[in-house]
Amino acid sequence: MVRIKSGYETAGVSGMAGVNELDLAGEVDPTRPSIARVYDAFLGGKDNFEVDREVCRRAIEIDPDAPVAARDLRSWLIRVVRFLVGQAGIDQFLDCGSGLPTAENVHQAAQRLSSDVTVVYVDNDPVVAAHGRALLEENPQTHFVFADLRRPADVLANPVVRKYIDFTRPVALMQCATIHHVLDEEGPAEIMAAYIDALPPDSYVALSHFLDPGEGSEHRDLARQLEMNLRQSVGSGECRTHEEILSFLDGLELVQPGLVPVMDWWPDGPTLKPVAAVQRLVVGAVARKPAPH
Ligand SMILES: C[S@@+](CC[C@H](N)C(=O)[O-])C[C@H]1O[C@@H](n2cnc3c(N)ncnc32)[C@H](O)[C@@H]1O
Repeated sequence: MVRIKSGYETAGVSGMAGVNELDLAGEVDPTRPSIARVYDAFLGGKDNFEVDREVCRRAIEIDPDAPVAARDLRSWLIRVVRFLVGQAGIDQFLDCGSGLPTAENVHQAAQRLSSDVTVVYVDNDPVVAAHGRALLEENPQTHFVFADLRRPADVLANPVVRKYIDFTRPVALMQCATIHHVLDEEGPAEIMAAYIDALPPDSYVALSHFLDPGEGSEHRDLARQLEMNLRQSVGSGECRTHEEILSFLDGLELVQPGLVPVMDWWPDGPTLKPVAAVQRLVVGAVARKPAPH
């Protein structure tokens, strides 16, 4: 375990090229993979260690198309942000499990459409926190909270969240590729319900998740193998059934086309390339909170 301080050359000691001279908020262990860094490696980023890349290589051994699913998840997230700002008129985002910066981030996609959009990023990975804090300096409407999304009461009571998110006006809650890292015994449904309960009417929730395609599906074995790779490396990566994932949006109205493979959720254009099996195993939905009856 190394504690990386301000100005520490991470590239020099750890083989991680992307985070130099940033304050890392906590302890970074280069001998254990983290899901934020593994996802970064899948997306072709530089903020990852050899242990993270090894998880990716193992996934690619299981299915060479595994990185396509990671790219699908990220491009879905950006399409959702464009929809929420451009169509739904959302101007404040609570992005739980925000991840490492990629080619385009939530605040960039949102602020391209409306300069008034506020984004509060939440993550518990120290490398993500370092980038998040750096963002604060360049974008006054972007904020970062170092917190555990499995503790909704703490996240919702956090002073930065309370200061910058106005819970009397519609909010977008982003839970993208996060809830499959919450184990059953940690109560993913209760966690989602607590967040949803705090949202005012006309708020939106975006949720993406690994799919268990169910018994009899030709892709079930693939789902199980990919799930096992993540469980053994980062400790979580739960595939859940369509019904289980829908239950996390209880009480909300699904935006069309509902819960579908993310590549099928309002794609930017026609799909000409063959669809890989793994692309069917990452699903997402956007849902609106109705007014109370
Ligand atoms: C697979 S990445 C997804 C990033 C982004 N939401 C996306 O869809 O592109 C999952 C992120 O959730 C964060 N995360 C996982 N569990 C968390 C927890 N309990 N509290 C806060 N963040 C968490 C990880 O650190 C990582 O940055």
